[in-house]
Amino acid sequence: MCPPEHFRVTYSINPWMDLSKPVDVRLAMAQWSDLRDCYRSLGHTVDELTPHPDLPDLVFTANGGLVLEDRVLGARFAHPERYGEATVHEEWHRERGCAEFQRAQHTNEGEGDFAVTDRWLLAGHGFRSSPLAPQEAQEFFGRPVIALDLVNPRFYHLDTALCVLDDGGNGDEDGPAHGNGPAHGNGDGPARGNGGGPARSTVMYYPGAFSPGSRAVLRRLFPDAIVAEEADALALGLNAVSDGHHVVLPQAAVGLLEPLRERGFEPVPVDLSELLKAGGNVKCCTAELR
Ligand code: ARG
Repeated sequence: MCPPEHFRVTYSINPWMDLSKPVDVRLAMAQWSDLRDCYRSLGHTVDELTPHPDLPDLVFTANGGLVLEDRVLGARFAHPERYGEATVHEEWHRERGCAEFQRAQHTNEGEGDFAVTDRWLLAGHGFRSSPLAPQEAQEFFGRPVIALDLVNPRFYHLDTALCVLDDGGNGDEDGPAHGNGPAHGNGDGPARGNGGGPARSTVMYYPGAFSPGSRAVLRRLFPDAIVAEEADALALGLNAVSDGHHVVLPQAAVGLLEPLRERGFEPVPVDLSELLKAGGNVKCCTAELR
């Protein structure tokens, strides 16, 4: 995470960024600190990136890259205003000694447009990431990538429209079991964990953000998904972070609370209203070091 010390809205690269709405930096800092403290109270480690006066969006660390098994595919930003952030993230990963770092050739905005399920990467494109980004990620990580077409400018990144909630609870086919997710599956659904059936990860998403074909793909892959209503999506309720049990999400997304609880998750609402002025929320402020 990166403190929003220099956070402001000085340019507009998405429909949320309204230059006439001033940002209260002190409030942003307080809200951000609450999120960091929330992660710590849930038992997670949080590292902090040093903020940079010329990079107001650096607070949205999810965009810096995608980390899987400590291998990092570093971002290549779509807008010149954010180009400089890629180097900050690269230096940070190299300094901490990640297993491998590769700067992407094709534009991709890290976890903004990539999500990790138990067996696939999901890759959004349409506004920021290049349509060539999924292939590059597939080659680098050696995981099948499902490309999804984003069509609504309010949901310009995949992480504004979809959130992976767990790893299916029984681990990777070829890896050790992680197994801290809630029990789910009612036994009469499609077979899970047979290597050829539907995904076991649980996701929540907003169909209105996706093209008809991508919606059909999501229905096919995630028949048990939580399907969000527009109001919750517009509160950026899908811009959430789950550890497989706790789901930290924007507090205004009240319609997601019951569906999450019904599936055994524990929602943890937080308020990041100042960060929303730049089109970001919980997930955007959080880069996960897998
Ligand atoms: N103002 C930033 C942008 O438009 C917000 C980035 C939000 N990050 C995210 N992971 N969705 O690029």
